[in-house]
Amino acid sequence: MNKELEEILEQYRNLVVVGGNWGDEGKGKVIDLVMSRYDQTVRFSGGANAGHTVYTPSGKKLVSHLIPCGLAQGKECIMGRGELVDLSLFLKELDDSKKVLGTELPNIWLDEMSPLWTPWHSLLEAWLEKAKGADKVGTTGKGIGPLEGLYKLRMSPLVGHVLLPKEKIIVMLEPLRLALLPIFNEMVSSGAVAHIPTVEEVADAMVDLSPNVKQYITDTSFLLSKAVEDKKRILFEGAQALGLDSYWGTYPFVSSGNSAAFGAAAGTGLPMGVFDATLMVVKTLPTRVGGGPFPSEMWERMEAMSFAKEHGQLFADKNLAAAFLSEKLEKINSGQASGADMSQYFQVLGDERGATTGRGRSVGYLDIPWLQYAIRINGPKWLALTRFDMLSKVRSLPVVVGYKLDGNLLGKGQLPPPWKLGDVEVVTEEWECWEEDIFGTSSEESLPHGARKFLLKLEKSLGVPILLVGTGPAREAMVIRGS
Ligand code: GDP
Ligand code: IMO
Ligand code: MG
Repeated sequence: MNKELEEILEQYRNLVVVGGNWGDEGKGKVIDLVMSRYDQTVRFSGGANAGHTVYTPSGKKLVSHLIPCGLAQGKECIMGRGELVDLSLFLKELDDSKKVLGTELPNIWLDEMSPLWTPWHSLLEAWLEKAKGADKVGTTGKGIGPLEGLYKLRMSPLVGHVLLPKEKIIVMLEPLRLALLPIFNEMVSSGAVAHIPTVEEVADAMVDLSPNVKQYITDTSFLLSKAVEDKKRILFEGAQALGLDSYWGTYPFVSSGNSAAFGAAAGTGLPMGVFDATLMVVKTLPTRVGGGPFPSEMWERMEAMSFAKEHGQLFADKNLAAAFLSEKLEKINSGQASGADMSQYFQVLGDERGATTGRGRSVGYLDIPWLQYAIRINGPKWLALTRFDMLSKVRSLPVVVGYKLDGNLLGKGQLPPPWKLGDVEVVTEEWECWEEDIFGTSSEESLPHGARKFLLKLEKSLGVPILLVGTGPAREAMVIRGS
């Protein structure tokens, strides 16, 4: 790791990394970059809905969903109590990771009290999404809402339950089955599903998992307290992002966990004073998948999400992509581009497709009022700005600099409730970009004047130092700006 970055991080033993937009900011890449200075990685929220991309030293891609991405560097991995766990997916991810890494895996720990997925969770999720109709959340289908929801209703199976004898598991599951029964009956009679797993089947599946997962299950909160006492350096890996936090995101178009920085305390059982600093990862051009308000969005959500699926060849064929991109860029730089042209250009350029679902990510303009809100809630010490390379060769681009509601400009960090967010009128300014291609650049001096000017202007608007600037997917493609 770069010496200057190492020196900066040295002072922050317990670091929280979170997303500042609506996910997929490049948290995985940022964590991967700083990981060598840390002993352990800890997930504290979300579940298999997350998809964090890292590259092994030999350049192989690894997408982690449940297991913290420190795995790629052989660091001890802890899945804190706030994480929602599907044990079958956990075992599959272990297998897949072994294949990519080809080495002995480090210690990996699951919390005995994390909410545990069963097939009933997925059935319930499908039912809830159906009930919402056109206002569905557009979830990743990993049972996240029911996992968190049933836990809060005090009806959740827990990871450690798989170690109980089958009879006890059945007794524990029975009230949940009874509570869900009217829904299940309706699902069967409406023809939505043919078979609902019986309590016996669910209990059997849990018992079957136990020999394979037993060795990973522990009280992670106790383990972590000990690690803090031993002065271990710990990296807390956020999943999702502020816009998807169940309290501070755009509810109800959110995920169900504490994705904001405070989630690190809630999801691990460590006292708040343990956390030394937060690094918030933000995308130069934010993206969103699923439903919900997105004030700076360039195009229509459904169109943008299906564009990637319908034009798979554009993402796969480099020559095709090059011709497409050059035509769109010409339009953008001659002021002829529509929102659809802009969105398609950046989607193809950045391969903006979900790491978990493959859905196209809808792209938005850089949104300063949103980031001011995210900074207010997360309180980051620094920002990591990813995908800055995407603005290369663009002459200028609108940047959202204010939100107006009913004709009044909102204050810095102020956000209307989500049901009014769609009525917000965005105030934009045209910001100059730069002609040079900065893809892969790793030093500030080699950034063109236009890029440096852009960064300084953004930093001034946000009032938080931009420590890292991403210029490509590779680990080295990062400018470190010093403190
Ligand atoms: P996460 O969920 O926040 O960890 O992000 P994802 O891994 O889902 O998506 C981020 C994507 O952006 C991945 O494909 C990364 O390889 C890629 N990426 C990260 N940083 C940069 C960057 O600075 N520039 C470019 N072009 N791609 C980046
Ligand atoms: P990472 O950690 C982007 C979105 C879904 C949906 C909403 C609720 O890779 O940044 P859920 O399945 O959680 O109930 O879906 O949240 N979503 C994400 N979008 N990145 C993620 O994770 C996401 N996790 C959930 O698309 O809109
Ligand atoms: Mg992701």
